[in-house]
Amino acid sequence: MIDTKKIREQFPILTQKVNGAPLIYFDNGATTQKPLRVIENISEFYKTTNSNIHRGVHTLSRLATDQFEQARKTIASHFHVKNDQQVIFTAGTTDSINIVAESLAKKHLQNGDEIILSTYEHHSNILPWQLWAQANEGTLKVIPLKENQSLDYEAFEKLLSPKTKLIALAHVSNTLGLISDLEKIKAAAAKFHVPILIDGAQSAPHMTVDLQKLDVDFYTCSAHKIYGPTGVGILYLSEKWLRDLPVARSGGGTIKTVSFEKTVYAEGALRYEPGTPNISGAIAFAEAIKFVDEIGMQTIFEHEEELVQHAQKQLKQIPEVVIYGENDHKAGVISFNIKGQHPFDVGTLLDKYGIAVRTGHHCTQPLMNVLGIQGTVRISFAVYNTKEEIDFFIEKLKKVITMLN
Ligand SMILES: Cc1ncc(COP(=O)(O)O)c(C=O)c1O
Repeated sequence: MIDTKKIREQFPILTQKVNGAPLIYFDNGATTQKPLRVIENISEFYKTTNSNIHRGVHTLSRLATDQFEQARKTIASHFHVKNDQQVIFTAGTTDSINIVAESLAKKHLQNGDEIILSTYEHHSNILPWQLWAQANEGTLKVIPLKENQSLDYEAFEKLLSPKTKLIALAHVSNTLGLISDLEKIKAAAAKFHVPILIDGAQSAPHMTVDLQKLDVDFYTCSAHKIYGPTGVGILYLSEKWLRDLPVARSGGGTIKTVSFEKTVYAEGALRYEPGTPNISGAIAFAEAIKFVDEIGMQTIFEHEEELVQHAQKQLKQIPEVVIYGENDHKAGVISFNIKGQHPFDVGTLLDKYGIAVRTGHHCTQPLMNVLGIQGTVRISFAVYNTKEEIDFFIEKLKKVITMLN
């Protein structure tokens, strides 16, 4: 059981009033709030340790390097990664996917190849592949959804062929909260030896992710969605890709030796980390990981699943509400609309009561097109949310419906 009172005390922003009402923050899918220990960790780094990493002999540089590399270890251990060098620091999920797309285009992907995505991908896991496809006569194949908005795995199997060179899939849909069945995806992909990239932006915050068990080729996530700072995230490479992924972005730090004739690149994570990274961000990301690990990802999952079920049950009792991707097993997210009303209007009125929800297409316009809607109202939960907040939200939502009708 989670002691939400104790947890909430660690988040200074949650004590605020917004528009005269206590803040109810249900926009965690976009970004989570930060516990004080993460905020202080960033400030402490700049107050005491700030220095550039990896090539300095002076004390501060060695201290900063140690903290940065310790952060890599903490994050690797959280995701059950065997070798911490398989964890590459990036600017976040979008950056990680772009790195993989640029790198695979150098060697692995050829003209005329095919990549499989799903209908519910975030634009960040569509556009890098679309850019590649446009430049290389490639084709993007899309896994359709069943009537209940879950992935159609039978249709997926039919999309696979010797031309398939990658499957790039969201672990959890940011709009629907549905969890992709990766065992089914892996079993079918194995028949054609197709590598798999998992966009973990919405799974890392909500559930245990064991990358040894998951056994995919690439996994990405963003720190800011897991109580960490913005502008930092990771790209996990399987052992094979840590050896084989061509370097697409180069620069200081990625090398062993350079001459004008030839460069020998470093081995391990540094090979893929050009330039000065977000040092304080990576260290604070590790602090956020310690925060969730002290609570336990399974405990967080169960707490948020309870919140989803509590909210879903009440939303279903409101006749004007249409829920998308309704399911008993979801990761922290519910999307819905009020019949005949624009989601922006619903979101704007809820904001007057201090309730922060997200409205719009959630960077999943292809999904919106398939659903035949412009957007939804999305509520997404974090470890600090409570059933009482949901009850308050439901009460105010009913008022909003009356006001709009
Ligand atoms: C499923 C999914 N993929 C990718 C992203 C992009 O993440 P970032 O903006 O942190 O790069 C998001 C952000 O909302 C997301 O939900």
